[in-house]
Amino acid sequence: MELKGKVSFITGAAQGIGKSIAQSLAEAGADVVVADLDISKARETAKEISEQGAKTLALKVNVASLPEVQEAVDSVMTQWGRLDILVNNAGITRDSLLLRMKEEDWNLVMDVNLKGTFNCTKAVLPLMTKKRNGKIVNIASIVGVMGNAGQANYAASKAAVIGFTKSVAREYASRGINVNAVAPGFIETAMTQALSQEVRDNLYKQIPLGRLGTSQDVAHAVRFLVSEEAAYITGQVIHVNGGMLMV
Ligand code: NAI
Repeated sequence: MELKGKVSFITGAAQGIGKSIAQSLAEAGADVVVADLDISKARETAKEISEQGAKTLALKVNVASLPEVQEAVDSVMTQWGRLDILVNNAGITRDSLLLRMKEEDWNLVMDVNLKGTFNCTKAVLPLMTKKRNGKIVNIASIVGVMGNAGQANYAASKAAVIGFTKSVAREYASRGINVNAVAPGFIETAMTQALSQEVRDNLYKQIPLGRLGTSQDVAHAVRFLVSEEAAYITGQVIHVNGGMLMV
């Protein structure tokens, strides 16, 4: 129970990778805020996790809106009085080749994936700097490092999240705040369920470990990064991709 007494705020935690992260941090003893645009699913997830013994809170938040994020963080402080861990996991795709990419699809992906990460980080930093302690993990993507045809908006947002991670890590290291990124490869979730068998078969050939990742594979890396065992790690990108990209 290495995270006993810590409060974690996980965005996009209603389902997929975020839900696994929430479950994993709860197993390690953390209290969990399930922050998501989809409040009914967030409530279900929070209930499920609380039935396993953790303290949970479901909050409706659009990470792209700074006032909504601030309100959510304020409400955690009012109800629980502390916030120790932030996981910026909420993310979306709006794929198409660049010539066909609509401006609104560019903007939406940037607003959620990049500005959402900025908004949540900005809202928790004053609390963490005051305590001179905090852990922030941003969920990037293999695509932010490799690029991917049809995902220029998504790849740009995730590459930017990596630059953001390194900059904030440098700014706040002296205040006891560790900021890292986890870059998942291709993970079995709703986001990848849409892939055809042909695309999957092709992917398997590129992944030395021969399978897509699970959301638990990603959650394990996050759980390590927010633990005291990772105290000397900051500004890093941990790749969880079955060996698909080795950097
Ligand atoms: P998902 O689509 O299964 O879940 C995303 C969650 O975020 C949903 O619960 C959704 O309601 C929530 N969300 C969406 N927009 C939001 C907003 N504006 N404010 C608050 N919540 C919002 O996605 P998945 O696959 O679990 O992905 C999670 C993260 O991992 C994302 O950042 C994604 O880019 C990243 N990732 C996923 C990979 C994969 O293969 N599935 C690979 C690499 C990175």
